[in-house]
Amino acid sequence: MDKFIVEGPVRLQGTVTVSGAKNASLALMPACLLAPGIYHLGNTPNNRDVWTFSRLLGSLGVHAELNSNTLFLDSSTITSYEAPYDHVKKMRASIYVLGPLVARYGQARVSLPGGCNFGPRPVDLHLKGLERLGAKIEVEGGYIVATADRLQGNHVHFDVSSVGATVNVLMAAVLAKGQSVFTNAALEPEVTALARMLVKMGARIEGIGTTTLEIEGVDTLKPVNEETIPDRIEAATYLIAAAMTRGDVTLKNVNPYHLAAVVQKLEESGAELDVTGETIRITMNDAPNAVDITTAPYPGYPTDAQAQWAAYMMLANGASTIKDTIYPTRFGYVPELHRLGAEIEVTDGACVVKGGRRLTGATVMSSDLRASASLVMAAMVSEGRSEILRVYHIDRGYEAIERRLTALGAVIRREHTEEY
Ligand code: EPZ
Repeated sequence: MDKFIVEGPVRLQGTVTVSGAKNASLALMPACLLAPGIYHLGNTPNNRDVWTFSRLLGSLGVHAELNSNTLFLDSSTITSYEAPYDHVKKMRASIYVLGPLVARYGQARVSLPGGCNFGPRPVDLHLKGLERLGAKIEVEGGYIVATADRLQGNHVHFDVSSVGATVNVLMAAVLAKGQSVFTNAALEPEVTALARMLVKMGARIEGIGTTTLEIEGVDTLKPVNEETIPDRIEAATYLIAAAMTRGDVTLKNVNPYHLAAVVQKLEESGAELDVTGETIRITMNDAPNAVDITTAPYPGYPTDAQAQWAAYMMLANGASTIKDTIYPTRFGYVPELHRLGAEIEVTDGACVVKGGRRLTGATVMSSDLRASASLVMAAMVSEGRSEILRVYHIDRGYEAIERRLTALGAVIRREHTEEY
């Protein structure tokens, strides 16, 4: 186990290059199961989730190798159609192999993912979508067993806008026989990135970037090389961290269009942002204004950046309300922020953050990927020393975070510990 030792307060300044999007990589990687051959996925982030997914693909027979930030995949020989619990328990996105395996090989046996720290994470829409395409789905012994002769195109309506269900069922529909029409498909940039890669592979998809996708199934697809889009959540995290420390930070390799909701909220809080091409420079000279947020599916404010906003609003002039309409119980980080001196009240599906807090360092516990980032951010503006335990959560989605923050002026180091 590792922990971070953080000294505060600090002021972040300088330049950081944002990595490729973890949640795009996790969607692009399983697409290699749809067409045997060699793929190069550029700008792949070097983080724990990518390593976990690479090992899962390896267990199916795919050769996966990450060289610097290019992921080499060779799916010429698939030797297994099973995603065991051991993989799935580490990362829910392992379920993304279900759609492509049943579409290309007519079979898949994938462990049901459990919940996670911020609440139940059902997969009913994944299964319902595949059944709509003709897959036979059974759940036995904690496993999803899917079989199909040849999937058949159909209308698939997603009751809830779901990134994962859209990704999984889209990868199945592209090889189904005939036309499929998705309604209420998720709009997240990571879904669009997958759709664009599938089209490069020979899939026929209309309506990309909208909630209605029209797919004409094809018999075969071909392997391709693809660049991964920038990570909008990592970018949001660094922008908010910079504003918290009244810093002056320039982010490179971002797609500002993917960050519109976050950029506008930061400007409302009093930060100054200069957006030029794939670069965003943020400067902040005072305590922030109190600004409420309500998360929503893209292009709304992302749930994956709500914990970071809560940390920021601890410094605000006044109180702010943070509502999560996607994961109403995603506030596990609040008791940890209390240990640093926060005054935050969790209500039904929201929390109210009292601003103007004087924060002092303490030992805190990471609970999930994005919550852990908010603890690091809060520690950087707390007086004195903080220890952040279980940083493996952070390693899942933030490549070399302590190196990057140190380069921006943070005082943070990683230590091995038997504590957990
Ligand atoms: C993706 O998870 C992301 N993960 C999550 O990021 C992100 O928080 C989430 O989308 C929302 O944006 C990846 O992309 C790997 P959903 P996913 O299906 O696909 C409900 C991170 O930090 N739902 O869009 O699991 C669900 O309960 C992670 O990188 C169903 O009811 O999320 C939620 O309320 C954490 N049935 C809503 O839909 C289903 O079958 C949106 O979930 C599926 C989802």
